[in-house]
Amino acid sequence: MTTTIDKQATQASWAKAIAKPATEFPLTQLSIVSGKIPANLKGSLYRNGPARLERGGMQVGHWFDGDGAILAVHFAEGQARATYRYVQTEGYLEEEKANKLIYGNYGMTATGSWWQRFGKTSKNVANISVLALPDKLLALWEGGLPHALDLETLETYGLENLEGLDHKRSYSAHPKRDPQTGEIFNFGVSYGKNATLNLYRSDRNGKLIKKNQANLQGLPMIHDFVLAGDYLIFCVPPLRMNPFPILLNLQSYSDSLAWKPQEGTEILVFDRHNLELVSRNIAEPWFQWHFGNGYSDRDGNLVFDLIRYSDFATNQFLKEVATGKIKTPAKGTLWQIRLNPQTGEFLETSQVLDRGSEFPIVASAQVGENSRYTYLSVHRSEDQQTELFDAIARYDYQTNTVTEADLGTNRYPMEPLFAPDPTNPNKGYIITVVFDGDRECSEVWIFDSDRLDAEPVCRLALPSVVPMGFHGTWRS
Ligand SMILES: [Fe+2]
Repeated sequence: MTTTIDKQATQASWAKAIAKPATEFPLTQLSIVSGKIPANLKGSLYRNGPARLERGGMQVGHWFDGDGAILAVHFAEGQARATYRYVQTEGYLEEEKANKLIYGNYGMTATGSWWQRFGKTSKNVANISVLALPDKLLALWEGGLPHALDLETLETYGLENLEGLDHKRSYSAHPKRDPQTGEIFNFGVSYGKNATLNLYRSDRNGKLIKKNQANLQGLPMIHDFVLAGDYLIFCVPPLRMNPFPILLNLQSYSDSLAWKPQEGTEILVFDRHNLELVSRNIAEPWFQWHFGNGYSDRDGNLVFDLIRYSDFATNQFLKEVATGKIKTPAKGTLWQIRLNPQTGEFLETSQVLDRGSEFPIVASAQVGENSRYTYLSVHRSEDQQTELFDAIARYDYQTNTVTEADLGTNRYPMEPLFAPDPTNPNKGYIITVVFDGDRECSEVWIFDSDRLDAEPVCRLALPSVVPMGFHGTWRS
């Protein structure tokens, strides 16, 4: 099934960014709209997201189904150059040639007659996030292997197995990198009669050095996890997939997921060194897409934060994004949990901020360690729960205060990313890509991370609209 664009969609200012497929551009010097590029900002910003929600007059079924395109912005010597490229996946090239949507995906079934749909249940859209390795950029998607790209030009090299992943395995889109050792932790879920959680530890170059597995209850979906000191924490939401309609191409993956709060949230804690299970437990039901950060406290307990939803309505919200008009509100808020790693029991659970939020991030130098600040996407006001996020903010765990960057009306920032100051990695810049719905253009906005409520340090014009996407990274 595919959806149709709501004709009123153009009324929502953000919808203009996704109303037509995004246009690529080659490496281009960016012009300054205001301010100045900081002299100590050296490195590259990469962002990924669905850039094409339509082909040959057919609409995709869910925002997650759009083909991934990546924005790279290279900063050096007070200048910035950018390029924007679709990931040249096998499915993208096949559909480009046919000028129609062929494959099924997270929120849609394959098109065509029954026999044409056979074997076309899933297309790797490479659209969720990126991982910058020393010699390549990986475009990540949680249902399959990553694609490797050129760090400078974003030319697609092809699928990447990290010297050890079977071609049927998946490598999820939220890897965690230890800031001290450079080791990279990640997972992938594989589905059979039961689901298996595959755990991966790689060296700083991405090469797999350790794997392990754990069985999961039923067939759940897992999007993200936590690196906290010496542990990896998984909170498996009470979602259960019915695989048969998917295999028969009768239902999409998204439509086959049932919310079963009676099952509770399964908590699994692993030792990050040997990837062995330390504890598992069942907690109350909730849903999360994303965690902020985690750390091991002085008493040996683990503390982590996340954006928590009371149910799975957020999936319907994200599906409706692709139609240009959101009817289903879904409010996620910032929570903090304290956990005993040896028993998997929660010692404390509290909502930190009662405000619709998403995309929590911390400075990369503090991943897995106690971090004072969490940066987030937020709504400017509470009555905007059926809109995309229109502000970014910083939550300070020491003072319990929020500092907000007000971008003005009809402007939509993407997930904030932290670019450290090379002389002091705990200070730096918050960079976001902003779509201006009034002027129908996209800009790169750079803030001093300690002065989000001040004017941006610099605003740069992008050559064409870069639609709102999911995740990115900063490579120093
Ligand atoms: Fe995500």
